[in-house]
Amino acid sequence: MKRLEQLYEGKAKIIYATENPDLVIQYFKDDATAFDGVKKGTIVDKGVINNQVSTKIFQYLEENGVKTHFVEQLSDREMLVKKLDIIMVEVVLRNVAAGSICKRLGIEEGKQLEPPTLEFFYKSDELHDPMINDSHIKTFNWATEKEVEILRAQGKKVNELMVAFFKQRGIRLVDFKLEFGRHKGEVLLGDEISPDGCRLWDMATGEKMDKDRFRFSLGNVEEKYQEVYNLVCGQGK
Ligand code: TMP
Ligand code: ASP
Repeated sequence: MKRLEQLYEGKAKIIYATENPDLVIQYFKDDATAFDGVKKGTIVDKGVINNQVSTKIFQYLEENGVKTHFVEQLSDREMLVKKLDIIMVEVVLRNVAAGSICKRLGIEEGKQLEPPTLEFFYKSDELHDPMINDSHIKTFNWATEKEVEILRAQGKKVNELMVAFFKQRGIRLVDFKLEFGRHKGEVLLGDEISPDGCRLWDMATGEKMDKDRFRFSLGNVEEKYQEVYNLVCGQGK
């Protein structure tokens, strides 16, 4: 499947058309941004790592009954996916307090959240992805009530599956963000699942292995992405 014209360029990926109108190619870049594009940089080979890690996780989720946009990995940086009409609602699942919930609610970082929380954010860099609720989604027609039910159910299911997946690999899944889209009447999980959109802590040492290393200039960014790659995609896994 060959790349045709560029349809869209985002902060971390470029979307290309293919000869099949139902399929597009996601090209993973090394560009990294944080704080809604305010901080910009490069994480060397991030695109290659995020493509492989996302492939492995999408395959695992599909095997466990989650419908995703994943079709196949085409090359180091290219993934063939179903073309989605993206739902403008980001779904964030949290198992451990970190990031914005600590600031917003005064919760101490590292606190186990039981049960895990699910939050909705409006996908808009300009507005800094504001937190929203079901009533906003309904009023502004971002998704139907049925779709919101699917976002909640799939978010919860993906969280349970991913907690187990990372635990087996010695990683604590702190939180992550999901995006969904419509395709031929179905709601599919889209985007990517990688250290860019997840908080991942080493279970043995508590060390951060995700984009927080870039956000907060903690150093060893490439090394930690590589470690996640090795644990997720390494031999015997
Ligand atoms: P937050 O603590 O900043 O709300 O982020 C929660 C999780 O969602 C964290 O794993 C990072 C991820 N995330 C993104 O992938 N993209 C975003 O734009 C934001 C705000 C968070
Ligand atoms: N993905 C967002 C950005 O680029 C926010 C973040 O990850 O911190 O800026």
